[in-house]
Amino acid sequence: MTQDQLKQAVAQAALDHILPKLESRSVIGVGTGSTANFFIDALARHKMDFDGAVASSEATAERLKKHGIPVYELNGVNELEFYVDGADESNARLELIKGGGAALTREKIVAAVARTFICIADQSKLVERLGAFPLPVEVIPMARSHVARELVKLGGDPVYREGVKTDNGNVILDVHNLMIGHAPELEAQINNIVGVVTNGLFAARPADLLLLGTSEGVKTLTR
Ligand code: A5P
Repeated sequence: MTQDQLKQAVAQAALDHILPKLESRSVIGVGTGSTANFFIDALARHKMDFDGAVASSEATAERLKKHGIPVYELNGVNELEFYVDGADESNARLELIKGGGAALTREKIVAAVARTFICIADQSKLVERLGAFPLPVEVIPMARSHVARELVKLGGDPVYREGVKTDNGNVILDVHNLMIGHAPELEAQINNIVGVVTNGLFAARPADLLLLGTSEGVKTLTR
């Protein structure tokens, strides 16, 4: 199976998981990236079964709208039963690294609101220890050098993601070579640096369910 077929399989598995629970007034949180895109395409075939979606990025909002799925502002939505999104890495505790697509802040906000966060990923994303994937950190532009110096003090090697501006108008530092021992602690520590908007560790609010695409089929991992 190709990586795309694995992504498609987990997208379908996520849809199968949520479909029986959808009502005509349901609003679904939708993530960003190539795996999330497969989910959007699958979701579109059932757009009559729910009300609409909240998007974690402008790119996702555009794709949802193209399919004719109404997109709502998060502030106007009272309840989000599900948030479905991909990840760059997950450990067995379903703590994640996200932000490869620079959408981490909005993703973290939508995940915080959702009752159930379903992560969809191919098998390459499951790791024993987080951190081989450089940790994305969204930073207010004028704080870039200050934040980079602070990240070095934490043992990382921050690299400015050239030419990338987030949907919130900020920049991204990708932090290489971090020793991620206790992920919730490091997540809080980095978020405490002045000028950081948020970082791509999803450990304080990990996923609730990981649907992992493997060559033997979709595996379900829970916390
Ligand atoms: C977007 O900012 C990321 O958090 C994505 O969820 C992550 O990069 C996974 O993307 P793919 O599904 O394309 O691998």
